[in-house]
Amino acid sequence: MDLMVCVGSSCHLQNSRDVIKRFKELIEEYHLEGSVELKGSFCMGHCADAGVCVKYADEIYSVRPETADEFFKTTVAKAD
Ligand code: FES
Repeated sequence: MDLMVCVGSSCHLQNSRDVIKRFKELIEEYHLEGSVELKGSFCMGHCADAGVCVKYADEIYSVRPETADEFFKTTVAKAD
């Protein structure tokens, strides 16, 4: 399953780089390297949301670096 993080300019300003870095660590912590693929994405048209735009299993989420752990635990690790 692809875990897409927007790297467009609005999301970049919301620290998409930190979200990607944390997701990378979490994928290792949860041993999901074989099932979750982290990818960068161009703008997904949700720039106005209060966070970095993340797409997983065809759903769009808004994630901040400080909510990345919780999002990953409840949405990505759980769905796997
Ligand atoms: S820049 Fe991320 S949704 Fe537009």
